[in-house]
Amino acid sequence: MEELIYQITPLDNTTLPPYALLETADPSRELIDQYLEKGESYVAISNGSIIGVVVFIPLEAHNIEIKNIAVADQFQGKGVGKALLRCIEEVCKKKGFHKMVIGTGNSSIGQLALYQQLGFEIERIEKNFFLDNYSAPIFENKIQCKHMLILEKNLNI
Ligand SMILES: CC(C)(COP(=O)(O)OP(=O)(O)OC[C@H]1O[C@@H](n2cnc3c(N)ncnc32)[C@H](O)[C@@H]1OP(=O)(O)O)[C@@H](O)C(=O)NCCC(=O)NCCS
Repeated sequence: MEELIYQITPLDNTTLPPYALLETADPSRELIDQYLEKGESYVAISNGSIIGVVVFIPLEAHNIEIKNIAVADQFQGKGVGKALLRCIEEVCKKKGFHKMVIGTGNSSIGQLALYQQLGFEIERIEKNFFLDNYSAPIFENKIQCKHMLILEKNLNI
């Protein structure tokens, strides 16, 4: 199989955010615009195209929250998601942040595997978050997405 060559760089504010990609992880354009405005974005670029994106915002007490991570369908499973998370981990350490926080649904099995493989620990569960905040039922892996699991990784600073 051909090796995937890509670079990860900050998304500068002259480049249009990759909305189609961001919307695969979050259906709300309004929320996406809010966190793009408040946060920092990094993109993976291959052959001049954006194939992956991650966005984080600062929280209180030296923490950050990862608000969105998405890799284009045809490039998934090749390590780009892990590379994006490792990249922002280094950025956050350099900036002196103490902890990274990410939320995901109880049905997002692949994402839960990925985050725990990278050292995130489940911290708490917001029961019924998706039932209370989304009008249509969400199913993944034949499981209804009801609860938000909050995972955290200490940056040991
Ligand atoms: C989540 C997402 C960003 C991951 O990106 P990716 O480039 O495919 O991820 P990687 O290839 O770096 O790593 C995926 C890892 O998760 C693990 N994984 C995925 N699905 C799994 C499953 N069902 N069971 C166990 N492990 C699984 C794999 O083991 C893999 O690690 P490995 O290759 O070292 O074995 C991508 O799937 C995506 O864009 N999904 C749609 C948007 C989304 O749901 N975003 C997150 C919510 S904000």
